[in-house]
Amino acid sequence: MKLLVTGGAGYVGSVCAAHLLEAGHEVVVLDDLSTGHRDAVPDGARFAEGNLADIAGTVLGEGGFEGVLHFAARSLVGESVTHPELYWENNVVVALRLLEAMREHAVPRIVFSSTAATYGEPEQVPILETSPTRPTNPYGASKLAIDMMLTSYAAAHGLAATSLRYFNVAGAHGRYGERHTVETHLIPIVLQVATGHRESVSVYGDDWPTPDGTCVRDYIHVDDLAEAHLLALTNATAGRHAIYNLGSGQGFSVKEVIEACRGVTGHPIPATTAPRRAGDPAVLIASSHAAAEALGWRPSRTDIRTIVGDAWRFTRDRLPV
Ligand code: UFG
Repeated sequence: MKLLVTGGAGYVGSVCAAHLLEAGHEVVVLDDLSTGHRDAVPDGARFAEGNLADIAGTVLGEGGFEGVLHFAARSLVGESVTHPELYWENNVVVALRLLEAMREHAVPRIVFSSTAATYGEPEQVPILETSPTRPTNPYGASKLAIDMMLTSYAAAHGLAATSLRYFNVAGAHGRYGERHTVETHLIPIVLQVATGHRESVSVYGDDWPTPDGTCVRDYIHVDDLAEAHLLALTNATAGRHAIYNLGSGQGFSVKEVIEACRGVTGHPIPATTAPRRAGDPAVLIASSHAAAEALGWRPSRTDIRTIVGDAWRFTRDRLPV
Protein backbone atom coordinates (compact mmCIF):
# COMPACT_ATOMS: atom_id res chain seq x y z
CA MET A 1 0.00 0.00 0.00
CA LYS A 2 1.05 3.62 -0.46
CA LEU A 3 0.90 5.10 3.03
CA LEU A 4 1.37 8.45 4.74
CA VAL A 5 3.06 8.25 8.16
CA THR A 6 2.68 11.48 10.12
CA GLY A 7 5.24 11.88 12.89
CA GLY A 8 7.47 9.30 11.23
CA ALA A 9 10.61 11.03 12.54
CA GLY A 10 9.52 10.37 16.13
CA TYR A 11 9.97 7.30 18.32
CA VAL A 12 6.92 5.11 17.60
CA GLY A 13 6.38 6.63 14.13
CA SER A 14 9.91 5.83 12.93
CA VAL A 15 9.75 2.25 14.20
CA CYS A 16 6.35 1.69 12.55
CA ALA A 17 7.58 3.27 9.30
CA ALA A 18 10.58 0.90 9.34
CA HIS A 19 8.23 -2.10 9.82
CA LEU A 20 5.96 -0.90 6.99
CA LEU A 21 8.94 -0.59 4.63
CA GLU A 22 10.25 -4.02 5.65
CA ALA A 23 6.78 -5.42 4.82
CA GLY A 24 7.01 -3.91 1.32
CA HIS A 25 4.76 -0.85 1.69
CA GLU A 26 5.52 2.50 0.07
CA VAL A 27 5.97 5.11 2.82
CA VAL A 28 5.87 8.90 2.83
CA VAL A 29 6.86 10.41 6.19
CA LEU A 30 5.44 13.82 7.09
CA ASP A 31 7.03 15.50 10.12
CA ASP A 32 7.81 19.06 11.17
CA LEU A 33 10.85 17.90 13.21
CA SER A 34 9.59 19.85 16.24
CA THR A 35 10.30 16.80 18.41
CA GLY A 36 11.38 14.24 15.81
CA HIS A 37 14.81 13.77 14.21
CA ARG A 38 15.66 13.87 10.50
CA ASP A 39 17.99 10.87 10.84
CA ALA A 40 15.18 8.81 12.39
CA VAL A 41 13.24 8.82 9.10
CA PRO A 42 13.85 5.27 7.88
CA ASP A 43 15.89 4.67 4.72
CA GLY A 44 13.52 4.00 1.86
CA ALA A 45 10.82 6.42 3.07
CA ARG A 46 10.17 9.63 1.20
CA PHE A 47 10.31 12.63 3.56
CA ALA A 48 8.02 15.67 3.48
CA GLU A 49 9.05 18.25 6.08
CA GLY A 50 6.44 20.69 7.27
CA ASN A 51 3.44 21.50 9.37
CA LEU A 52 0.83 18.78 9.04
CA ALA A 53 -2.15 21.12 8.94
CA ASP A 54 -0.51 23.12 6.13
CA ILE A 55 0.82 20.39 3.87
CA ALA A 56 -1.30 17.24 4.43
CA GLY A 57 -3.59 18.30 1.57
CA THR A 58 -0.68 18.87 -0.82
CA VAL A 59 0.99 15.57 0.06
CA LEU A 60 -2.22 13.52 -0.15
CA GLY A 61 -3.15 15.44 -3.30
CA GLU A 62 -0.45 13.65 -5.31
CA GLY A 63 -2.85 10.69 -5.20
CA GLY A 64 -2.73 6.95 -4.74
CA PHE A 65 -2.64 6.90 -0.93
CA GLU A 66 -4.46 3.93 0.59
CA GLY A 67 -4.00 4.90 4.20
CA VAL A 68 -2.60 7.20 6.87
CA LEU A 69 -0.87 6.22 10.10
CA HIS A 70 -1.18 9.24 12.37
CA PHE A 71 1.52 9.54 15.05
CA ALA A 72 2.31 13.26 14.96
CA ALA A 73 1.28 14.77 18.31
CA ARG A 74 2.37 16.49 21.46
CA SER A 75 2.67 13.83 24.15
CA LEU A 76 3.90 15.24 27.46
CA VAL A 77 1.33 14.92 30.22
CA GLY A 78 2.87 17.67 32.40
CA GLU A 79 3.17 20.12 29.52
CA SER A 80 -0.47 19.47 28.61
CA VAL A 81 -1.53 20.65 32.07
CA THR A 82 0.47 23.89 31.91
CA HIS A 83 -0.08 24.56 28.17
CA PRO A 84 -3.37 22.91 27.16
CA GLU A 85 -3.65 25.17 24.09
CA LEU A 86 -0.71 23.29 22.51
CA TYR A 87 -2.67 20.03 22.81
CA TRP A 88 -5.98 21.31 21.47
CA GLU A 89 -4.15 22.98 18.56
CA ASN A 90 -1.45 20.42 17.66
CA ASN A 91 -3.43 17.29 18.45
CA VAL A 92 -7.12 18.05 17.93
CA VAL A 93 -7.16 20.86 15.34
CA VAL A 94 -4.38 19.21 13.31
CA ALA A 95 -6.23 15.85 13.33
CA LEU A 96 -9.34 17.56 11.99
CA ARG A 97 -7.30 19.15 9.16
CA LEU A 98 -5.80 15.75 8.38
CA LEU A 99 -9.20 14.03 8.27
CA GLU A 100 -10.55 16.74 5.97
CA ALA A 101 -7.54 16.34 3.65
CA MET A 102 -8.12 12.57 3.64
CA ARG A 103 -11.79 13.10 2.79
CA GLU A 104 -10.95 15.52 -0.01
CA HIS A 105 -8.51 13.07 -1.57
CA ALA A 106 -10.55 9.90 -0.86
CA VAL A 107 -7.99 8.19 1.37
CA PRO A 108 -9.96 5.25 2.80
CA ARG A 109 -8.26 4.27 6.10
CA ILE A 110 -6.47 5.62 9.13
CA VAL A 111 -4.63 4.01 12.05
CA PHE A 112 -4.41 6.43 14.96
CA SER A 113 -1.92 6.52 17.81
CA SER A 114 -4.17 6.78 20.88
CA THR A 115 -3.25 6.20 24.49
CA ALA A 116 -4.12 4.57 27.80
CA ALA A 117 -4.29 8.16 29.09
CA THR A 118 -7.82 8.32 27.58
CA TYR A 119 -9.00 6.14 30.49
CA GLY A 120 -7.58 8.19 33.35
CA GLU A 121 -7.59 6.59 36.81
CA PRO A 122 -8.96 3.06 36.23
CA GLU A 123 -11.79 1.62 38.31
CA GLN A 124 -10.49 -1.87 37.60
CA VAL A 125 -7.50 -3.54 35.99
CA PRO A 126 -6.92 -4.99 33.48
CA ILE A 127 -8.42 -2.09 31.55
CA LEU A 128 -10.89 -3.01 28.80
CA GLU A 129 -11.81 -0.88 25.78
CA THR A 130 -15.30 -0.61 27.34
CA SER A 131 -13.88 0.88 30.56
CA PRO A 132 -14.96 4.48 31.29
CA THR A 133 -12.88 7.16 29.55
CA ARG A 134 -12.19 9.92 32.07
CA PRO A 135 -8.82 11.44 31.14
CA THR A 136 -7.11 13.28 33.98
CA ASN A 137 -5.08 15.66 31.80
CA PRO A 138 -5.46 17.60 28.51
CA TYR A 139 -3.08 15.19 26.72
CA GLY A 140 -5.44 12.24 27.32
CA ALA A 141 -8.47 14.45 26.64
CA SER A 142 -7.04 15.57 23.28
CA LYS A 143 -6.46 11.96 22.20
CA LEU A 144 -9.96 11.00 23.34
CA ALA A 145 -11.42 13.88 21.33
CA ILE A 146 -9.68 12.51 18.22
CA ASP A 147 -11.00 9.02 18.95
CA MET A 148 -14.50 10.54 19.02
CA MET A 149 -13.79 12.41 15.79
CA LEU A 150 -12.88 9.11 14.15
CA THR A 151 -16.10 7.43 15.33
CA SER A 152 -18.14 10.19 13.72
CA TYR A 153 -16.12 10.22 10.46
CA ALA A 154 -16.46 6.45 10.14
CA ALA A 155 -20.24 6.69 10.61
CA ALA A 156 -20.81 9.73 8.41
CA HIS A 157 -18.15 9.40 5.71
CA GLY A 158 -17.36 5.67 5.57
CA LEU A 159 -13.80 6.04 6.88
CA ALA A 160 -12.11 2.81 8.01
CA ALA A 161 -10.57 3.90 11.32
CA THR A 162 -8.61 2.15 14.04
CA SER A 163 -7.45 3.71 17.31
CA LEU A 164 -4.66 1.87 19.07
CA ARG A 165 -4.43 2.77 22.76
CA TYR A 166 -0.84 2.26 23.80
CA PHE A 167 0.18 1.48 27.35
CA ASN A 168 3.89 2.05 28.26
CA VAL A 169 5.85 1.79 25.04
CA ALA A 170 9.52 0.86 25.44
CA GLY A 171 12.39 -0.90 23.68
CA ALA A 172 13.86 -0.08 20.29
CA HIS A 173 14.08 -1.39 16.73
CA GLY A 174 17.73 -1.34 15.71
CA ARG A 175 18.73 2.28 15.19
CA TYR A 176 15.19 3.55 15.78
CA GLY A 177 14.39 4.26 19.41
CA GLU A 178 13.38 6.73 22.08
CA ARG A 179 15.31 10.02 22.31
CA HIS A 180 13.33 12.94 23.62
CA THR A 181 14.93 16.31 24.34
CA VAL A 182 12.91 16.44 27.54
CA GLU A 183 12.93 12.90 28.92
CA THR A 184 10.22 11.96 31.42
CA HIS A 185 9.85 8.22 30.82
CA LEU A 186 11.18 5.71 33.31
CA ILE A 187 13.31 3.35 31.19
CA PRO A 188 15.27 6.02 29.23
CA ILE A 189 15.87 7.92 32.47
CA VAL A 190 17.19 4.81 34.23
CA LEU A 191 19.44 4.05 31.26
CA GLN A 192 20.82 7.60 31.42
CA VAL A 193 22.09 6.71 34.89
CA ALA A 194 23.84 3.65 33.42
CA THR A 195 25.52 5.81 30.75
CA GLY A 196 26.70 8.32 33.37
CA HIS A 197 24.41 11.13 32.19
CA ARG A 198 22.53 11.14 35.50
CA GLU A 199 23.65 10.42 39.05
CA SER A 200 20.58 8.47 40.13
CA VAL A 201 16.93 7.83 39.42
CA SER A 202 14.12 9.25 41.55
CA VAL A 203 11.41 6.73 42.38
CA TYR A 204 8.16 8.68 42.52
CA GLY A 205 6.65 7.24 45.68
CA ASP A 206 7.20 3.93 47.48
CA ASP A 207 3.96 3.94 49.45
CA TRP A 208 1.51 3.06 46.68
CA PRO A 209 -0.99 0.25 47.29
CA THR A 210 1.09 -2.23 45.23
CA PRO A 211 3.17 -5.29 46.29
CA ASP A 212 6.48 -3.34 46.60
CA GLY A 213 4.96 0.11 47.08
CA THR A 214 5.99 1.48 43.66
CA CYS A 215 3.72 2.08 40.64
CA VAL A 216 2.97 -0.80 38.28
CA ARG A 217 2.85 -0.35 34.50
CA ASP A 218 2.30 -2.51 31.43
CA TYR A 219 5.42 -2.19 29.24
CA ILE A 220 4.95 -3.03 25.58
CA HIS A 221 7.84 -3.51 23.17
CA VAL A 222 7.73 -1.01 20.29
CA ASP A 223 8.22 -3.87 17.77
CA ASP A 224 5.10 -5.64 19.09
CA LEU A 225 3.30 -2.31 18.88
CA ALA A 226 4.40 -1.82 15.26
CA GLU A 227 3.13 -5.28 14.33
CA ALA A 228 -0.32 -4.31 15.63
CA HIS A 229 -0.33 -1.30 13.27
CA LEU A 230 0.32 -3.52 10.25
CA LEU A 231 -2.48 -5.86 11.31
CA ALA A 232 -4.83 -2.91 11.89
CA LEU A 233 -4.16 -1.63 8.36
CA THR A 234 -5.18 -4.87 6.73
CA ASN A 235 -8.17 -5.48 9.04
CA ALA A 236 -9.78 -2.07 8.49
CA THR A 237 -13.44 -1.99 7.50
CA ALA A 238 -15.09 0.95 5.73
CA GLY A 239 -17.55 2.77 7.99
CA ARG A 240 -16.20 1.22 11.18
CA HIS A 241 -14.09 2.69 13.98
CA ALA A 242 -12.34 -0.01 15.99
CA ILE A 243 -10.51 0.71 19.27
CA TYR A 244 -7.91 -1.67 20.71
CA ASN A 245 -5.70 -1.52 23.78
CA LEU A 246 -2.10 -2.52 23.22
CA GLY A 247 -0.22 -3.80 26.23
CA SER A 248 1.51 -6.99 27.19
CA GLY A 249 -1.08 -7.70 29.90
CA GLN A 250 1.52 -7.91 32.67
CA GLY A 251 2.61 -5.31 35.15
CA PHE A 252 6.09 -4.43 36.34
CA SER A 253 6.76 -2.09 39.25
CA VAL A 254 9.20 0.83 39.08
CA LYS A 255 11.54 -1.16 41.37
CA GLU A 256 11.32 -4.21 39.09
CA VAL A 257 12.15 -2.09 36.04
CA ILE A 258 15.18 -0.57 37.79
CA GLU A 259 16.32 -4.05 38.85
CA ALA A 260 15.96 -5.31 35.25
CA CYS A 261 18.07 -2.34 34.08
CA ARG A 262 20.74 -3.20 36.66
CA GLY A 263 20.82 -6.77 35.34
CA VAL A 264 21.03 -5.72 31.69
CA THR A 265 23.57 -2.90 32.08
CA GLY A 266 25.70 -4.26 34.96
CA HIS A 267 25.53 -0.76 36.51
CA PRO A 268 24.43 -0.40 40.17
CA ILE A 269 21.93 2.40 39.23
CA PRO A 270 21.44 4.30 42.49
CA ALA A 271 17.77 5.03 43.22
CA THR A 272 16.28 7.44 45.74
CA THR A 273 12.69 7.76 46.86
CA ALA A 274 11.00 11.00 45.83
CA PRO A 275 7.45 12.29 46.41
CA ARG A 276 4.64 10.87 44.29
CA ARG A 277 4.26 12.50 40.85
CA ALA A 278 0.91 14.28 40.47
CA GLY A 279 -1.60 12.40 38.34
CA ASP A 280 0.11 8.97 38.43
CA PRO A 281 -2.33 6.08 38.87
CA ALA A 282 -0.98 3.23 41.07
CA VAL A 283 -1.52 0.46 38.50
CA LEU A 284 -2.13 0.52 34.72
CA ILE A 285 -2.45 -2.85 33.00
CA ALA A 286 -4.14 -3.47 29.66
CA SER A 287 -6.47 -6.16 28.58
CA SER A 288 -5.46 -6.69 24.96
CA HIS A 289 -7.92 -9.51 24.32
CA ALA A 290 -9.83 -7.47 21.77
CA ALA A 291 -6.68 -6.95 19.64
CA ALA A 292 -5.87 -10.66 19.98
CA GLU A 293 -9.38 -11.68 18.90
CA ALA A 294 -9.95 -9.22 16.09
CA LEU A 295 -6.44 -8.74 14.71
CA GLY A 296 -4.75 -11.98 15.74
CA TRP A 297 -2.15 -9.84 17.56
CA ARG A 298 0.18 -11.63 19.97
CA PRO A 299 2.93 -9.59 21.63
CA SER A 300 6.04 -11.79 21.77
CA ARG A 301 8.66 -9.57 23.46
CA THR A 302 6.98 -9.34 26.84
CA ASP A 303 9.98 -10.15 29.06
CA ILE A 304 11.05 -6.88 30.72
CA ARG A 305 14.73 -7.84 30.23
CA THR A 306 14.17 -8.17 26.46
CA ILE A 307 12.46 -4.75 26.35
CA VAL A 308 15.17 -3.08 28.47
CA GLY A 309 17.93 -4.96 26.58
CA ASP A 310 16.81 -3.53 23.23
CA ALA A 311 16.49 -0.02 24.69
CA TRP A 312 19.99 -0.40 26.18
CA ARG A 313 21.56 -1.51 22.88
CA PHE A 314 20.01 1.52 21.18
CA THR A 315 21.21 3.89 23.93
CA ARG A 316 24.74 2.43 24.04
CA ASP A 317 25.13 2.46 20.24
CA ARG A 318 24.45 6.19 20.25
CA LEU A 319 27.19 7.00 22.74
CA PRO A 320 30.31 8.64 21.35
CA VAL A 321 33.24 6.17 21.26
N1 UFG B 1 8.80 7.11 37.23
C1 UFG B 1 9.68 7.24 38.29
N2 UFG B 1 10.79 8.01 38.08
C2 UFG B 1 11.05 8.65 36.90
C3 UFG B 1 10.14 8.50 35.82
C4 UFG B 1 9.01 7.72 36.03
O1 UFG B 1 9.48 6.70 39.36
O2 UFG B 1 12.07 9.34 36.81
C5 UFG B 1 7.60 6.27 37.42
C6 UFG B 1 6.30 7.02 37.20
O3 UFG B 1 5.88 7.66 38.38
C7 UFG B 1 5.39 5.87 36.77
C8 UFG B 1 6.31 4.90 36.04
O4 UFG B 1 7.63 5.25 36.46
O5 UFG B 1 4.87 5.24 37.89
C9 UFG B 1 6.23 5.02 34.54
O6 UFG B 1 6.35 6.40 34.20
P1 UFG B 1 6.52 6.92 32.70
O7 UFG B 1 6.65 8.41 32.78
O8 UFG B 1 7.59 6.13 32.04
O9 UFG B 1 5.16 6.50 32.02
P2 UFG B 1 3.66 6.85 32.43
O10 UFG B 1 3.06 5.60 32.99
O11 UFG B 1 3.52 8.07 33.25
O12 UFG B 1 3.11 7.30 31.02
C10 UFG B 1 2.61 6.43 30.08
C11 UFG B 1 2.82 7.00 28.68
C12 UFG B 1 2.04 8.29 28.56
C13 UFG B 1 0.62 8.05 28.92
C14 UFG B 1 0.54 7.48 30.32
C15 UFG B 1 -0.84 7.22 30.80
O13 UFG B 1 4.18 7.22 28.46
O14 UFG B 1 2.12 8.76 27.24
O15 UFG B 1 1.28 6.27 30.34
O16 UFG B 1 -1.38 6.15 30.14
F1 UFG B 1 -0.07 9.20 28.90
